[in-house]
Amino acid sequence: MQTILVINSKGGCGKSTISANLASYYAAGGAKTAMIDYDPQGSTMHWLSARPAHLPHIHGIHACKPRNGLTRVWQMTVPPGTECVVIDAPAGVTGTKFQEMINRADAIVVPVTPSSIDIHATSAFVRDLLLIGRIRRAGIRVCVVANRVRRHAPQYEPLKRFLASLGIPFVTSLADSDNYIAAAESGMGIHELDRDETSFEREQWLPLLRWLSAPDQGEGGGEGRPRLNLVSMSR
Ligand SMILES: Nc1ncnc2c1ncn2[C@@H]1O[C@H](COP(=O)(O)OP(=O)(O)O)[C@@H](O)[C@H]1O
Ligand SMILES: [Mg+2]
Repeated sequence: MQTILVINSKGGCGKSTISANLASYYAAGGAKTAMIDYDPQGSTMHWLSARPAHLPHIHGIHACKPRNGLTRVWQMTVPPGTECVVIDAPAGVTGTKFQEMINRADAIVVPVTPSSIDIHATSAFVRDLLLIGRIRRAGIRVCVVANRVRRHAPQYEPLKRFLASLGIPFVTSLADSDNYIAAAESGMGIHELDRDETSFEREQWLPLLRWLSAPDQGEGGGEGRPRLNLVSMSR
């Protein structure tokens, strides 16, 4: 089982969008997939509720909503045989919830939007992640993904240099695209929409999916952890 945590201290950078698209990609590729929604607003749970019944099932857990008669441990347990778990983090999470999410993660994806405020905040967040989360010691891999990038993207160079100095890859840039909105509204991911209409977006996802399936040797110290394979999408 591989657990991917999508997190940043900022709201609106695309955590839920990227979580949903990751889960739908792996589920559509045949992996038994679960999502854990740590956001009290429950946007992942909302997305799952819109998911058409004929598409591969994704098991949803709402981490912030205690369920009657279940202990927390039971509530947070994914079904037996689950191969992929995607955790959608809320903005500004700290303390035990933050540590609980980190403890489960094999890989962490940090989305950042093209705003100088977000870029600055993301540098601070990544630094905190390394320090407070002790992720290096735990062998958890981290990457950063630019999201909602428009044609005239701002300067990511200072962030890229900062990440490079920490050995953290800036793996891809995802465009600002109506296809993500269309997919979100219908409980799907872009890999489940028409292939021709989403070829541009799919191309941009490849570096992230490759990074999740085949890490650079020696980077992040995560060797020996299970990996999700790149899946061939038939649609
Ligand atoms: N690449 C994208 N293209 C277009 N809209 C996007 C993209 N990523 C996110 N959005 C939209 O931006 C808003 C915030 O994204 P969301 O994933 O909810 O962020 P977060 O979970 O980090 O708060 C949502 O309305 C979402 O549909
Ligand atoms: Mg969200």
